[in-house]
Amino acid sequence: MDRYAVFGNPIGHSKSPLIHRLFAQQCAEVMQYEAILAPVDGFADVWRDFVTAGGRGGNVTVPFKEQAFQLADILTERAAKAGAVNTLSLNAQGQLCGDNTDGAGLVADLVRLGASLQGQTVLLLGAGGASRGVIEPLLQAGVSQLVLANRTLHKAELIAVNFPDQVQACALDAIPAQNYSLVINATSSGLSGSRPDISAQHLQHCQLAYDMMYGKEPTAFLQWCQQQGVAQCADGLGMLVGQAAESFAIWRGKKPDITPVLAELKRQLA
Ligand code: ATR
Repeated sequence: MDRYAVFGNPIGHSKSPLIHRLFAQQCAEVMQYEAILAPVDGFADVWRDFVTAGGRGGNVTVPFKEQAFQLADILTERAAKAGAVNTLSLNAQGQLCGDNTDGAGLVADLVRLGASLQGQTVLLLGAGGASRGVIEPLLQAGVSQLVLANRTLHKAELIAVNFPDQVQACALDAIPAQNYSLVINATSSGLSGSRPDISAQHLQHCQLAYDMMYGKEPTAFLQWCQQQGVAQCADGLGMLVGQAAESFAIWRGKKPDITPVLAELKRQLA
């Protein structure tokens, strides 16, 4: 049976095996997908062992996305721009191909939620790996301007130089006053139960507030957005399923429908 896996550290709580099992059922594909714990500095060896044992492809999560980027023989343009790989596959010549489906997963979820992206100015909070991987896909999806706000200004500036015409870097307390219809939290603030400290004025025109994190309860950022009266708030569970669907399509040539799988995940989280 064709074998796939997600590699991370920690990996115990990964939802990827469940998501791919549901995709395989939906698409009538016979495959196996497991979760593999790799040592923090030893992803490459674990990956090679997996391929030797018949592994066909993999997802890569924290903290291995940069190591996978280094390991790949060939990179897609979006992975090269993100500087990180979340999907590995082997081509017919046996070369290791690195792709990054995180941004496409986010865009698919935003579209599912009815967000309008074309010509919009988006406020993106955070300048870590999560943020870097979604900028190019958001611009490709029609976003015209992106304000990248980060607690540490320098990190936002380092990313913004790669997109001189469309991305403007600023500190959290110096966000330009503009009409942001979409505000995305790509910081890891939710891990500590906090939110990026921005002024509520930036939510005035916000139609959709999106947090890439998810959990049983709404994140602190989404709770705050709700209190400020933002019409629609969504967490990153849909992005997780969306990026998985893109990976599945790379491996199996079939794109699963994310809606029923997302419903099942929400049911299990509740
Ligand atoms: P990831 O790869 O998940 O993006 P990361 O590279 O560690 O993780 O980046 C975390 C991001 O969340 C950073 O932009 C960080 O801001 P700094 O660059 O100033 O460190 C941001 N972040 C984390 N906790 C935050 C908080 N409580 N408020 C605002 N930003 C926060």
